[in-house]
Amino acid sequence: MSGQVEGLVAIVTGGASGIGAAIARRLHEEGAQVAVLDRDPSGADERFAAFTADVSDRASVDAAVAGVAERFGRIDVVINNAGIGAQGDVTANDDDEWARVLSINVTGIARVTSAALPWLRRSPAAAVCNTASIASTTGLPQRALYSASKGAVSALTRAMAAHHPREGIRGSAGHPRTPAPPRGGGRAGPAAGP
Ligand SMILES: NC(=O)c1ccc[n+]([C@@H]2O[C@H](COP(=O)([O-])OP(=O)(O)OC[C@H]3O[C@@H](n4cnc5c(N)ncnc54)[C@H](O)[C@@H]3O)[C@@H](O)[C@H]2O)c1
Repeated sequence: MSGQVEGLVAIVTGGASGIGAAIARRLHEEGAQVAVLDRDPSGADERFAAFTADVSDRASVDAAVAGVAERFGRIDVVINNAGIGAQGDVTANDDDEWARVLSINVTGIARVTSAALPWLRRSPAAAVCNTASIASTTGLPQRALYSASKGAVSALTRAMAAHHPREGIRGSAGHPRTPAPPRGGGRAGPAAGP
């Protein structure tokens, strides 16, 4: 990545902790100015501009993205990383929970990207990267809802990657994998994974 993001402005959703915080740090180290959008940005690195935003709420997303544009005058990169976990088979979560998880993990990507799109179209180096999961492509037990959401993230990313390059915007996805549990028991990986 060396030099590729120098001078660019990057939004990282869910950038106040975990994988998003690591992505934000790396972008910053590589020369980008970073804006963290998080429903609880209190843990965000103080080097970053922090905005409170719930990706499941369009008004909140629109206000935060407008705030980033006002502060920096440009938006070049969007990392759609905010996501939550869900456990169990198809019986485990009621309709409200299905709607909530899909709204955050999937529709949240559309909300944030839509709000940033007018700015991305003006960027000479625009890119959107969505955090999917190994659950996008691999069958995992006890992860029905979560896997459905991350499969949708992969499909959405492919659609975006097919469409947006014609307007100069690259699309891609990352597929993190939860580390194996420690020997002797215990739980590996934060709640939003695998
Ligand atoms: N941790 C893993 O092993 C793993 C594996 C594969 C994929 N992922 C994915 O990576 C992403 C980050 O996971 P993580 O483990 O770092 O999680 P995490 O719980 O450590 O961090 C998630 C961040 O997103 C924020 N967030 C949650 N809901 C939000 C909302 N509605 N609006 C705005 N911000 C919100 C949280 O406040 C938090 O700062 C998620 O999309 C997750 O599904 C994680």
